[in-house]
Amino acid sequence: MADQLLSTARYETLPLSYVRPEQQRPRLHEVVGDDNIPLIDLGGGDRARIIRETAEACRTYGFFQVLNHGISTDSMQRMMAIAREFFRLPAEEKAAHYSDDPSKKMRLSTSFNVKKETVRNWRDYLRLHCYPLEDFVPDWPSNPPLFKDVVSGYCREVRRLGFRLMGIISESLGLEKDYIVKVLGEQEQHMAINYYPACPAPDLTYGLPAHTDPNALTILLQDPQVAGLQVLKGGRWIKVDPHACALVVNIGDQLQALSNGQYKSVWHRAVVNQEKERMSVASFLAPCNTALISAPEKLTSGGTPAVYRGFTYAEYYQKFWSRNLDQEHCLELFKC
Ligand code: OGA
Ligand code: NI
Repeated sequence: MADQLLSTARYETLPLSYVRPEQQRPRLHEVVGDDNIPLIDLGGGDRARIIRETAEACRTYGFFQVLNHGISTDSMQRMMAIAREFFRLPAEEKAAHYSDDPSKKMRLSTSFNVKKETVRNWRDYLRLHCYPLEDFVPDWPSNPPLFKDVVSGYCREVRRLGFRLMGIISESLGLEKDYIVKVLGEQEQHMAINYYPACPAPDLTYGLPAHTDPNALTILLQDPQVAGLQVLKGGRWIKVDPHACALVVNIGDQLQALSNGQYKSVWHRAVVNQEKERMSVASFLAPCNTALISAPEKLTSGGTPAVYRGFTYAEYYQKFWSRNLDQEHCLELFKC
C-alpha cells in the first residue's frame, strides 16, 4: 500500500519492522575507507591502458568508477535534480504510482520486495523499464513536467556508455570487441531511482542489504554529497566515496557467468545516515530474455572447465526474484 512509502511520512524512531537482528546489522564502525576502488579514465586514445585497467578492476573489485565517460556533468546533474523533485511530490501524487508487484514495468515501491522479505529496508524507489524508450516513456510519471525528457535523455546516454564498456570488457577478456553485445541480444534497460531518507537509527538497518546485481552491467549515478554505497572485499566492507564527475560501474551476475567466473559480481549494499537523505540512480543493462548465457569456448578450453551451466536470462531472473535479496549468491544455484 502506498502509505508504506517512507518519503511520505516522518519518523522520530525506527519502526520495529526495519530493525535487523543483532547479527545482521551493518556494524558501521568496522567499515573501511575507499582506498583503492579503481578510477578509470575513459578519455584519451590509449585503449590498451583502458582495457588493462578494466581487466584488473573486474578481476579484483568487480567495481570501478569511470571518468570522461561521455555523459556530461550537466546531464548527470539534471537527472539527479529531477529524481529529487519526483520524491518531493505530494503523497497523493506518488500514491498513484505505487505497486509492490515486481513484474510491473513502472512502479514506485519501497524496501526491496515487500511481499517476500521479513525485515524492511530504508528505501523508496521508482523502477522504470527504459528500452525501447518509446514503449515505456508514455507510462512514466508526467510530473515533474520535465521528467520524461530528462530521464529519457539520460537513458540514451547510459545505454551508449554501457555498450562501450561491454566492448572494453569483451576485449579485456581476449574476446572480439562485440562478443558480449552479440550474446546478450536486444538488451533490456531498467532504472532504479533510489531515495534513502535520513534515518533515525542507521546502525540498525539498511537502505539496501548486501546483494549482487542479477543483470549484466550496472551504471550508478551517486549523490555527489552523501556517501552510502559499500562494497565487500576480502571480508571487509569498503566505502565507495562519491566523485562528482564519475559514474560507478559494476559487473552483474551475467558477466560473471559469461567470463566463466573470472570477473566478479560482488556483494554491495547501501547504508543510510542520520542527518541526510541520499539519492542514487542505478541503470541496469540486462540480456534479452532468450539470451543463452554460458562461458565462451575461448574461456573454457585448455583444461579450464565451465563453472556454470548454460541458462537463459529468463530462467535466471525468475530465480532471482523468487528469493530474498540477501541469501547466497544466486549464481551458486547454476554451478556445474
Ligand atoms: C542497486 C544498488 C546502490 C546505491 O540499486 O542495485 O546497489 O548506492 N544501489 O543505491
Ligand atoms: Ni545493486
